[in-house]
Amino acid sequence: MITRLGILTSLLIAAAPSRSDTMEEKLRVLIDPAKIQGKVKEVAKQIERDYQNKDLVIIMVLKGALCVVADLIREIDLPLNVEAVQCSSYGKRGTERGELSIFGLDRINVHNRDVLVVDDIFDSGYTMATLYKEIEKQVPRSIKSCVLLSKNVKHVPNFQPDYVLFDIENEFVVGYGLDYKEQYRGLSGVYVIE
Ligand code: IMP
Ligand code: MG
Repeated sequence: MITRLGILTSLLIAAAPSRSDTMEEKLRVLIDPAKIQGKVKEVAKQIERDYQNKDLVIIMVLKGALCVVADLIREIDLPLNVEAVQCSSYGKRGTERGELSIFGLDRINVHNRDVLVVDDIFDSGYTMATLYKEIEKQVPRSIKSCVLLSKNVKHVPNFQPDYVLFDIENEFVVGYGLDYKEQYRGLSGVYVIE
């Protein structure tokens, strides 16, 4: 039974993530948890159809993709492997980005396998394009990409992710894996910093 308290609680949760109370930034909800979960199920089923009788290896791009990968793999009813790489930019200055470095790819072997790279957000596309270039050196059988979010900005030429859960405007977002100065990754929704 839906109680009045229940409705009030859900409204409050949708309006503001409680864990942000102690932090300085003001957050505005962009995608609520229920909407994310619905879309995760939908895309997982699509991946399930596309990877029948394939040798699926999901490469999770840490740390941002941790939530979306954790939820996707529980909805994809197929045998699959999960590997992880970490991509980071030099200099931790919040929203600014420097040169990209990739860690962990040397421990993975995807030769002749069907790779799905999963990242949190497709912004300039530089991360994904660089990852593709490096992964392709191992000659996988196929390579595709999946991102939680794609920003409405000019991306690197000739590259589009194969699965996009949500298209968003050019705003800096946090939550559901995405951070601002390593904060907010644990929020269940996606929020804009105001
Ligand atoms: P790209 O290489 O420009 O596509 O950037 C991708 C990476 O930048 C993502 O994996 C994120 O780590 C980071 N990034 C880009 N936009 C945002 C954002 O709005 N919030 C948090 N991280 C972001
Ligand atoms: Mg990232």
